[in-house]
Formats: sequence, structure tokens, C-alpha cells
Amino acid sequence: MEKAQLVFVPAPGMGHIVSAVEVAKLLLTRCHQLSVTVLILNHSSINSKVHSYIESQRASSSIVSTRLRFIDLPKDETELFSFFSFVNSQKSHVKEAVLKITQSDFVSSVDSPQLVGFVVDTFCALMIDVANEFGVPTYIFFTSGAAFLGFMLYVQKIYDEEKFDPTELKDSDAELQVLSLINPFPGRVMPSAMLIKDWFPSILDNTRRFREAKALIVNTFLDLESYAIESLKMPPVYPVGPILDMGSDERNTRKEIMRWLDDQPPSTVVFLCFGSKGSFSQNQVKEIACALEHSGHRFLWSLRRPARPGLLASPSDYEDPQEVLPEGFLDRTTGIGKVIGWAPQVAVLAHPAVRGFVSHCGWNSILESIWFVVTIATWPLFAEQQFNAFEMVVVELGLAVEIKMDYRNDSGVIVNCDEIERGIRCLMKHDSEKRRKVKEISEKSRRALMEGGSSYSCLGSLIKDVMDNLS
Ligand SMILES: *[C@@H]1O[C@H](CO)[C@@H](O)[C@H](O)[C@H]1NC(C)=O
Ligand SMILES: *[C@@H]1O[C@H](CO)[C@@H](O)[C@H](O)[C@H]1NC(C)=O
Repeated sequence: MEKAQLVFVPAPGMGHIVSAVEVAKLLLTRCHQLSVTVLILNHSSINSKVHSYIESQRASSSIVSTRLRFIDLPKDETELFSFFSFVNSQKSHVKEAVLKITQSDFVSSVDSPQLVGFVVDTFCALMIDVANEFGVPTYIFFTSGAAFLGFMLYVQKIYDEEKFDPTELKDSDAELQVLSLINPFPGRVMPSAMLIKDWFPSILDNTRRFREAKALIVNTFLDLESYAIESLKMPPVYPVGPILDMGSDERNTRKEIMRWLDDQPPSTVVFLCFGSKGSFSQNQVKEIACALEHSGHRFLWSLRRPARPGLLASPSDYEDPQEVLPEGFLDRTTGIGKVIGWAPQVAVLAHPAVRGFVSHCGWNSILESIWFVVTIATWPLFAEQQFNAFEMVVVELGLAVEIKMDYRNDSGVIVNCDEIERGIRCLMKHDSEKRRKVKEISEKSRRALMEGGSSYSCLGSLIKDVMDNLS
């Protein structure tokens, strides 16, 4: 019998929704007295891919599916400029939906289970206001790492105390002493998200609200970020990861890519992929192509066309990639290389032919590469990726090699062929210390989720925390 229910408010993007649903399923699997309603904010980033994912979840016949529901919130007439003002404008829709589901159970018309809390995305902390109206606590689901969570709280604190301005550090040698990092943090890897003047005040407002949460659920695990996790005391942090999306990406292109990988010898391929929003100018594409050709390594390259202002919000696939590649490149690399558009990243990383991953260092990509023991070469573009590159990888945890740590997609800088080639050679080297370390942490990531593992136990504590809210 269901006694308690949680309301989830994920940010309206594929990655965020998938991670939130995976967390919900973990909770439901472990606690049979719980049900979850996921509210889908109607934002322009909700595309057909998200819809089909949600449909597949609705149609699922897993044992938790009867306790997992989705509600699509209505669309507002006005398109708002900033994401945070969009979230703010959605509060009334969220309130209305929650009123409905708490008044009566619309499926069985028996008394609905007691509402015991909200689980809201990193970017939706403003929804705490709605939870407060219902008199229930909020849990923030933080979809990046614990060290970055510590960094955000730190930036907000020094802004409030001494009007800290991150843009002043952008190109400087100055360093910050961040509690969640062992090493001093160099200003030049200041994450791009902190440098957008129009956003900074809203990011600070959003981050201040983290402190009002009952707890933070973080997609990480103790063995990966023990230092950062221990530095975060209030509110309590539950590291329950790695939470991975093992199969929401089903497309026809996948078969052909997998067939190509099947034909490559084990552990020989470098995979280049820069996330759903990542792309490069034609000049940069030429340098990457040059580096791949010179390195002589086998490669699988997800090459995307930059978003065209006013037309498409996200990068798309080229009809013919030859239009941006050096002349004859595809012919000269036939057999050892393959240029593709969108990539089924998890399936590729899981393939035994793949050895190295040139990555933008999105947090999910980092967790996936660890899980499948694929070493990363860092090439961050925007958001918090520079921070992740620095943390993981190059300095803090020694798990990756560096192509760039301080690259920004809006800088106009071109990374040259030699520099990329050096990074790729280093990435693909045999007997590397980094690979040994990645293997070790990979085993720990798998163990963390098993019964008795750290994330398994933290999830248990989180459930207890949630069920303690029952009156
Ligand atoms: C969400 O917005 C789109 C575009 O305006 C609309 O077609 C769709 O019906 C909306 N969904 C809901 C549940 O209102
Ligand atoms: C950098 O990437 C972000 C995220 O996709 C995008 O919004 C922005 O327009 C990009 N900037 C440039 C100059 O390409």
C-alpha cells in the first residue's frame, strides 16, 4: 500500500529528465510504500526525443511503473528570455498539478498517499516556494559533481560577502581556495556559466536556495569525490550515483555504427563527441581532422553542424560532412576512421573497440566513461565543463589527459593540429597510469551501487529521510 508520494520537477532537457526518472526508479524499487509523479515543464527544449522517452516509460511494465506517473504541464503564451524566469513562471502550473494529485488519487479514487516532499532539479531550486506552500521539504537533485556543487556555494558566498566578480578572474593567474577542491582553482578555468553577465544574478539566486533544501541528492559516488563530499556539510548530501542512462537512445544509425566498431580490433579506437549542444567552426574542424590523420589512430568522430541563430536551437547533423572537412579526408581515412553525426554515446563507450574519448566533459559523459573504462581527453566548451575538466581529470583526480582545460566555445580560439594530436597520442598510449586509475575507479563505481556499496547505503538513508516526513 502506498503511504507517501514525492513530486519530481526535473529541468526540461533530455539528460535531466532521464537522470531524474532513474533516481525515481531507484527510490521506488527500494521503497514499496512510495509513489512518484514527475512533472514535465513545457519548454521549447522538450522535443520529440523527450516525448518518446516519456512514452516508453509510461508504457513500461516494470514493477515500479504503476507507482511512477508523468504529468505534462501546460504551455504559457509568452516565451521568456531567461531560463530562471521561465522556471519562476511555472510555479502556478506546478502548484495546480500538485493540488490535483494530492486531493484525490485520479486513478483509483481512494485517498491519495501523503505528499512527503519535492525533488527538484539543480536549475529549478525556485520551486522550493511551491513546496513551502504545501508545507513539505525540498530535495535538490544536483546533476553535476559534488566538487562543482561546493564551488557554486562558494562563489555565491564570496559574492554575498565581498561582491566577487568571476569575470575578473577569467584570464588571470589568480587562484581560488575552494573547500571542495584539494588543489587551488585557477581563474582561467572559471566555468563559462559563471561568466555570462545576464545570468550571474539568477545563478546566485538559484544557488542561495540550495541552502534551504532538506538535503541534496548528488549524481556522484563516495570513492570518486570523497574529499568534495566530506567538505559539504549543510544541507546534508546524499551521493547516490553513478546514475546512467543505459538505453533511452534508440535510432537506426546505431546499427551501422555498431557494425563498424565490431570490425575494429579491441581497444584501438578514439571516440570524439562533444555532447548534444557541442559543435565547432569549420576552421576548428579542419584542425581536428588534421590531428586525427597525423595520429594514425582509428577514430569515430561525432561531427555536428553548429546551431544556426534563429533557425535551430541545437546543433544538427551535416547532410554531407565533406563540406567542412579537408579535401580528400574521408578517402584517406577510409577503413580506419568514421565520421558520423549524432552518436549513441553509451553504446559506443560500452563497445570493446573504444579506448579513448575526446570529450566536452559534461558530468554524465564523465560518469559514463568511468563506468566503461574509457579514458578521457578533455576539451570543455561551455556551462560547467571547464570545472569538470579541471577537477577530474587533469589535476584533482588524475583520471584524464588534457587537450584543453580552459577552452571556451565563445572565445574564437582555434586549438591547432599539433596540440590536438599530442593529446590524442597521449590518450591512446599503452600502459598508461591514467588507464590503470580509470579501471580502478570504474570497479568502485560499480561496487557503489551494489548492496552494501556506498551509494546503495546512501539511497537507503535518503529513503529514511523522506519517510520521516510522514506525519
Ligand atoms: C506544450 O507546448 C507545445 C507547443 O506550444 C504544444 O503543442 C503542446 O500541446 C503543449 N503541451 C501541453 C501538455 O500543453
Ligand atoms: C556555445 O555553446 C552554447 C551552448 O550550446 C550556445 O548557447 C552558444 O551559442 C555557443 N556559443 C558560440 C559562440 O558558439
